[in-house]
Amino acid sequence: MSKQKLIIFDTTLRDGEQSPGASMTQDEKLRVARQLERMRVDVIEAGFAAASPGDFNAIHAIAETIKDSTVCSLARANENDIRKAGEAIRPAPSRRIHTFIATSPIHMEKKLRMTPDQVVEAAVKAIGIAREYTDDVEFSAEDAVRSDIDFLCRVFDAVIAAGATTINVPDTVGYSLPSVWGERMRTLIERVKGADKVIWSTHCHNDLGMAVANSLSAVLAGARQVECTINGLGERAGNASLEEVVMAVRTRSDIFDVETGIDTTQIVPASRLVSQITGYPVQPNKAIVGANAFAHESGIHQDGVLKHRETYEIMRAQDVGWAQNRLVLGKHSGRNAFKTRLQELGIPVASEEAVNAAFAHFKELADKKHEIFDEDLQALMSDEGQPASEHYKLVSFKFHSETGETPHAELTLSIGGAETHAAADGGGPVDAALKAIEQVVASGSELLLYSVNAITTGTDAQGEVTVRLANGGRIVNGQGADTDIVVASAKAYLNALNRLYQGSERLNPQL
Ligand code: KIV
Ligand code: ZN
Repeated sequence: MSKQKLIIFDTTLRDGEQSPGASMTQDEKLRVARQLERMRVDVIEAGFAAASPGDFNAIHAIAETIKDSTVCSLARANENDIRKAGEAIRPAPSRRIHTFIATSPIHMEKKLRMTPDQVVEAAVKAIGIAREYTDDVEFSAEDAVRSDIDFLCRVFDAVIAAGATTINVPDTVGYSLPSVWGERMRTLIERVKGADKVIWSTHCHNDLGMAVANSLSAVLAGARQVECTINGLGERAGNASLEEVVMAVRTRSDIFDVETGIDTTQIVPASRLVSQITGYPVQPNKAIVGANAFAHESGIHQDGVLKHRETYEIMRAQDVGWAQNRLVLGKHSGRNAFKTRLQELGIPVASEEAVNAAFAHFKELADKKHEIFDEDLQALMSDEGQPASEHYKLVSFKFHSETGETPHAELTLSIGGAETHAAADGGGPVDAALKAIEQVVASGSELLLYSVNAITTGTDAQGEVTVRLANGGRIVNGQGADTDIVVASAKAYLNALNRLYQGSERLNPQL
């Protein structure tokens, strides 16, 4: 018997982007959207059109590009937001407006300052306006988890009658537990008028570490759409992780009577892309996409896996995109092999000149590091993707570090095209390098995060550095990769300074 479809609604570009410093440029959003399409995500929530002109333009560009997934924009339940969302998604062959309003007593009284009657009226009106733009309209009752069930039923009855086609039930604050959440979904489906005419959806946050479990419980209770993000990125502790939801449903097909349309071999490339673009590293023990997710350390486990893989493995690494991505290039690889691999990885290269420039950098890297893995190529190409017009650039760099001596860094930076020299001492070479940069740039930024990740295994691995800076109420992430982690650190710091300089991130995407 064929299974029902579970719709995968990815909100990495909207809820995911609300993580501090995870703002993406339009080009970065397009790269992620293309990867989501390649992975066969059903609905891509591309942003929140009314949040800023930058958001509007990015959604519009995604709507012009994406052909195989539905493109969606979020909108509060007011006319201005909905019309902006409708205009932003207009070019997409398949488009959705997702409108929401809070329904919990605390949100209605303290945030919206609206009565329950006014909330119902606004929700119904919003659906009517959204339907002018598309037949595919989703309604969310924000903070449904703390909303009165009778009032939720009343709101949902009304929006279904007004033309909503998907009803989303969010655990906005990550408060629920699997048994309670499943029960809530079951009750709503039983009680709401017209429940059988709409798709029921769940949207869970991870404040108690339960977002995936709650989402799956809702699926068992009848939800046919899950809202999730790559790597579980999202506000605070994040959203339900797409890869975990998809692989749970697939691996436990004995329990779930639904299936997704996801090409699971695209999961690891998507995870890496989002991590590199947002600067949010993936923890090594993260399910499915963590570096150790398929690594067996204990001798007993290794022995078991060698004898029969299924003794300790419930999924195949290649099914989620690990194995096929370990293809190695080396210093003798030609330009064609390089270009082909970029294409297979879905990394866009603007022109033949750009391929040549990237290939030259690839050769330099291959001189330092004999085997080049896909992860190295992705890091290399995210450096290549930096705009040529970067304000701050590293021209040259040297540092001295010796037992008993104070570490010292000297560098030449190009600032707006003019070369400047800087030198500083520090507690270590990284500290000295960042102090030297700050000495000439004088950004006054506060360093919120500094982290180093080895991109691949081996002592010749490239180190990928992430820094998060706060400056004047803005937060940005910067990344840099190099076989020398001090150079990677300087690149990451400059990358963050460039983002501050460009002012591309938003202060408060949810308004
Ligand atoms: O968490 C939430 O409630 C949301 C809604 C806008 C769906 O993100
Ligand atoms: Zn959310």
